This record gives sequence, structure tokens and C-alpha cells, in this order.
Amino acid sequence: MQLIRVSSYEELSRKAADIISAQVILKPGCVLGLATGSTPVGTYRQLIERFRRGDLDFSRVTAFNLDEYLGISPEHPQSYHAFMQEQLFRHINICPRRCHVPEGCAEDPRAFARAYDQAIAEHGGIDLQLLGIGNNGHIGFNEPSGVFYKGTHVVDLTDSTIDANKRFFANREDVPKQAITLGTSGIMHAKKVILLAFGKGKAEAVRAMVTGEIDPKCPASILQLHDDVTLLLDKEAAALL
Ligand code: F6R
Repeated sequence: MQLIRVSSYEELSRKAADIISAQVILKPGCVLGLATGSTPVGTYRQLIERFRRGDLDFSRVTAFNLDEYLGISPEHPQSYHAFMQEQLFRHINICPRRCHVPEGCAEDPRAFARAYDQAIAEHGGIDLQLLGIGNNGHIGFNEPSGVFYKGTHVVDLTDSTIDANKRFFANREDVPKQAITLGTSGIMHAKKVILLAFGKGKAEAVRAMVTGEIDPKCPASILQLHDDVTLLLDKEAAALL
């Protein structure tokens, strides 16, 4: 794992955008794996600015998002569909039919999950996967458990994830209890992974990911087995390393 320490959220966002920009410039028809949550918002802002300056062209890029809440329609303001539209997609020239976000309202979520993995494979896999990390060590919505789930799957969200995400909803009760997420093998098959962690709330998860046992109790620890992972960490997130 390559570790890049940054001194501010601004620097974290700029460096992550540098890596994504390099990917898009070197391979204009690349496949990006994208994340939601608070951490990548600054990165997306940077990418939008670079697009507006004429430095980036997303017209041939395909995007696959990590996850979506189950039972939430794409129009719901807290859906990850809406998040991606608002934070990135509608501001750049990516083709809407090349923007893939798991379907939270699929009639048969398990069949949808298989089709999602197949669609990624048909596109030649993910070139660059952008990740955040949960306070509990989750990546995507691969929650701590007894096993690493391989494929895209439906997951019960843990109490800690529901607590962490309730800030986006009016009440804790409104946070969906389940989600659909890319599995461990989808993430591990990405050719390159960058993971962003910011703030002291992530320090223990970062420690377990980098120096702990490879254990599904910290799903991010599987990244120790990936050949090309770059961690962008601020001082507080890296405090226990
Ligand atoms: C989001 C995702 C999650 C988040 C993680 C960190 O698509 O897959 O794993 O990356 O929960 O969220 P923030 O950035 O809000 O701390």
C-alpha cells in the first residue's frame, strides 16, 4: 500500500483529483469506480473545475458506483443516484447512459446484483476505484462480518453505519436498513484503488486496514492483498499508524 499524507481536506481532494485526472487523460475510455459519502465531495468539486477549465474530457468515461440504499428510488434526495447527479455527473460531460449506480428499487435485487457484476466485466473491469472507509472499516457497504462477500450483494447495514449516515436524513428511523453494494471481488479486481480517509473518526479503521489481520471484521483489510492501492490520509486519520 502506498501512503500519501496530506495536511488538509483541500490537499486530499486535489491529490485524489490529480490521480483520477491522470487516469482519464491516459485512458479517455476508462472505467471509474466511484463512491459517495462526504469524503469524495471535494474531489468531485476539483474534477468539475478541471472539466470547466477544459483540462478534462469525460465523454468516453464509464462510471460504476459502489452502492445504493435498498428501497430508495433514484429520485429520492438521499439516494446515491441523486448524490452522484448533484455532486458530479450533471456538471461534467459524462454520457448519462454510461453512469451506473446500483438500483435500490430493483424488483429482484439479487438478479440485479449479478447483472451489475456482469456489466462491469463486460466493460473490461474497473480501471480506477475510488473508496472512502467507514468508521467500522467498511468499504462500499461491505460491512464487518464473518466472511468476505465476493460479488455485488444485498447487505443489512450495521448500527454504526446507520448512526454514521443519519446525518443525511431527518431522523435515524428514515435511514434505510439495507443496501446493495459491490462486493469484495469487484473492488479487488479494480486495476488501481485509491482510498481517502479524513479525520480522527477514521483512525482506528485505518489502523485495522493497514496493520491489522486480513479479516472480514475489517473489510478494508482485504486491500492489503491488492497490488496497487494508494491511501490518501490526513494526519488524524493516520494517527494510529
Ligand atoms: C459510499 C461508500 C462508503 C463510504 C464510507 C465513508 O459510496 O461506499 O463506504 O465511503 O461510509 O463515508 P464518508 O466519506 O461519508 O465518511
